[in-house]
Amino acid sequence: MTFWGGGRACIGFKFSQLEMKVVLAELLAAFSFEEAGKPIAWNIGEAIYPTIGQCSTRPEFPMKVTALKPASFTETTG
Ligand code: HEM
Repeated sequence: MTFWGGGRACIGFKFSQLEMKVVLAELLAAFSFEEAGKPIAWNIGEAIYPTIGQCSTRPEFPMKVTALKPASFTETTG
């Protein structure tokens, strides 16, 4: 992801990174993420983006997402 640089660079850079970390921390605590086994290619654009294979132009990165048991459930049941 780009925030550009120089004198007019994004003033929300660190703030939005912090927001992304908060969202990621919540998601990683609640779900497990695994690759779906598709061939992922990384493409250069204004921002680097993934596609399935080299021919697709649509940004995509399929994953297997599994809900984790809530911590309170495992704590009470061992
Ligand atoms: C994922 C989130 C964000 C991305 C990808 C992003 C990206 C950018 C980019 C590319 C620029 C142009 C920089 C340039 O011309 O060199 C910019 C400018 C700016 N951004 Fe962001 N931004 C994000 C979030 C935010 C947030 C959360 C704020 C405010 C809280 C913000 C405030 C600004 C302001 C005020 C400018 C203009 C700076 C200037 O012209 O001096 N941005 N941003």
